[in-house]
Amino acid sequence: MSNVKFLSGETIPLEMHKVRMVQKVNLLPVEDRLKCMQEAGFNTFMLKNRDIFLDMLTDSGVNAMSENQYAAMMRADDSYAGSETFYRLEAVLQDIFQTRHFLPTHQGRACENIIARTFVTPGSVVLTNYHFTTTVAHITLMGGSVEEVIGDEGFKIHSSAPFKGDMDIDKLNEAINRLGKEKIAFVRIEMGTNLIGGQPVSMGNMREVSRICREKGILLICDASLLADNLYFIKMRDEKYKNTDIKEITRKIASFMDVIYFSARKLGSARGGGILVSDDGLFNRMRELIPLFEGFLTYGGMSVREMEAMAVGLQETMDIDVISQTPIFVEALCNELIVKGIPVVTPPGGLGCHLDASQFCPHIPQTQYPAGALAAALFIAGGVRGMERGTLSEKRNDDGSERLAIMELVRLAVPKRVFTLSQIKYTADRIAWLFKNRHLIGGLEFVDEPKLLRFFIGKLKAVNNWPDQLAEQFRRDFGGSL
Ligand code: F0G
Repeated sequence: MSNVKFLSGETIPLEMHKVRMVQKVNLLPVEDRLKCMQEAGFNTFMLKNRDIFLDMLTDSGVNAMSENQYAAMMRADDSYAGSETFYRLEAVLQDIFQTRHFLPTHQGRACENIIARTFVTPGSVVLTNYHFTTTVAHITLMGGSVEEVIGDEGFKIHSSAPFKGDMDIDKLNEAINRLGKEKIAFVRIEMGTNLIGGQPVSMGNMREVSRICREKGILLICDASLLADNLYFIKMRDEKYKNTDIKEITRKIASFMDVIYFSARKLGSARGGGILVSDDGLFNRMRELIPLFEGFLTYGGMSVREMEAMAVGLQETMDIDVISQTPIFVEALCNELIVKGIPVVTPPGGLGCHLDASQFCPHIPQTQYPAGALAAALFIAGGVRGMERGTLSEKRNDDGSERLAIMELVRLAVPKRVFTLSQIKYTADRIAWLFKNRHLIGGLEFVDEPKLLRFFIGKLKAVNNWPDQLAEQFRRDFGGSL
């Protein structure tokens, strides 16, 4: 993606790829969208893809793949142990990250399972810039807990700070002194930071966190699932790195970490995951769990075809034209909304555009899940599927009360090279209509609430008939249009 100046003076994000394979999508009439939402229990995870016009749920496993990725899949070497595909992928990872060992897993949370089982003991604490849902679930399952040490800027919806994912070094030092080294399982940097709006971490912050961890003898683990966006932001927002090659930036980051893991559903635009480590001792401790939970050491639960696609996808991640597409489209969507006074997380981050549901729907109490309600309303308004990232995504407290999220966000993910600019503009238009009619959006309540990761498969209902009123208003305003 490149920002190119047009004759009018306007700058347009221009695609540096052409589309050679397409998938048809359906835009159902508003009455059908309402029915689908009701059937899905007002949970966007439960919608069927055939009923969705623009799927902005996630970028996980749904990024567009390149012709070279597809071509590589054809030469995959299918053997249970010692597959040539594994050695090809391992070599690519060793080249990019300069780490010695690679443990394959079937996806990102599988890495978290291996890491939590290896390093988390009952009563231990993981210090992190910000948690991710599956990370916390694995750490707490092993009897540990998570403490966040993100800078105050990270909690601000509106900010001009370029690296809102940075840890607060004073908070980190304070936590280390208070807890003591023995109680800390590891320090975890999530890069970029998913739940606060895909916000990046700066090189300077990583360097300082790494220095502290090495000085104190504490393990530093990096969740690099969203690394592609973070690389782009380091190059664009840090003067020092504007002329540095993406691969060089990646290697510098890797040099600060003891363990790196990633979801290859995101990083590398395939489906899988992996753990990178150089230390033999750490490698051996984790290695034992791979055949138990994932598969043999040379496939880790992945299809070899996906591993070939991953190897090519990771190499393509070193190309600025490839990794710039998502952040530039996210920025374009955010800017369309900002000029209309619609509240979004700023500065625009990676991964997607994040609507601030607490400002969008201030009339909905947090216990009625404003972000969940807004995500449901947006599907009714435009067939666009986003993801709730607020109180609904939290786990209840032990006494059963709600743990109110610090931010109530609806994430509109922009998977790599999937959408066109007119689809981005359509999304902004339907959000603008919804904003004008936001008084019509009401709350949600659970009818079926699972104990673990309830946001994935829980079912809810509207507190009154607001969804019908919203659909009726749409029909009045748009007449016969979809
Ligand atoms: N870590 C981060 C930062 C993630 O964003 C994800 C997944 C994972 C770990 C787990 O990886 O899905 O391959 O098991 N995020 C997806 C999302 C689900 O939609 O943001 P996984």
